[in-house]
Amino acid sequence: MSPSPTTHKAADIRLNLTRPIVLVGLMGVGKSTVGRRLAARLGLPFVDSDEEIAQAAGMTPGELFESYGEKQFRDGERRVIARLVDGKVKIIATGGGAFVNEETRALLLKEAIVVWLDADLDILAERVARRDTRPLVRVNNPRAVLAELAEQRRPFYAQAPIRVQGDAGSHEATVDRIIQAIGEACSG
Ligand code: S3P
Repeated sequence: MSPSPTTHKAADIRLNLTRPIVLVGLMGVGKSTVGRRLAARLGLPFVDSDEEIAQAAGMTPGELFESYGEKQFRDGERRVIARLVDGKVKIIATGGGAFVNEETRALLLKEAIVVWLDADLDILAERVARRDTRPLVRVNNPRAVLAELAEQRRPFYAQAPIRVQGDAGSHEATVDRIIQAIGEACSG
C-alpha cells in the first residue's frame, strides 16, 4: 500500500510561520475573500493592500485612477505594501498589479511567502463583470483586457514559489490547498 500524502494542519503551519503570506494574482481570482478566510483559519490578522491604499488616500483605487492616473496609484501601492511588510506574521492580499512592480516583487520574494492564486480566464471574466469597481476592466470587452493582462503578468506571477488554483471548488477548498502547499514548501 502506498503511503497516504501528508496532511498539513493549520495549527502546525501557523506555529512554523515566520513571514507573512502574500496572495498575488489577477483581479477576480479571490485574493481578498480567500485571504480573509485563510487568516481566520490560521488565526492571523488580514490586510488588503487596496483597502490600505483607500484608507491612506481617502479614496478608492477606482477614484485614485480617475483623479491621478495609474502611475500615482502604483506609487502609492508600492509604498503601502512596503509598510505592510513589517516583520509580523499576517495574511496580505495584494491588488492584481502589485507584484508586477520590480521593487515590490523583490521585497515580497525576500520577506514573505508569496502564493500565486491562478484561475481560468473565463471564470475571472465572469467574476469581474459582476462589479464595476475596477478601472482597468471598465471597458466594452473586459475578457480581452484580462487576457492581455494575464499574458503580460504571467512571467511575474510565475516567480511566486507557490501556485494554487483559485477556481476549483469553494473558497474553503482553495484555503485547504494553500495550507497544504505552504506545509509542503516549508517542510521540503
Ligand atoms: C488592479 C487590480 C485591483 C486594483 C486596481 C488595479 C490591477 O485589485 O488594485 O483596480 O492592476 O490588476 P484586485 O486584484 O484586488 O481587483
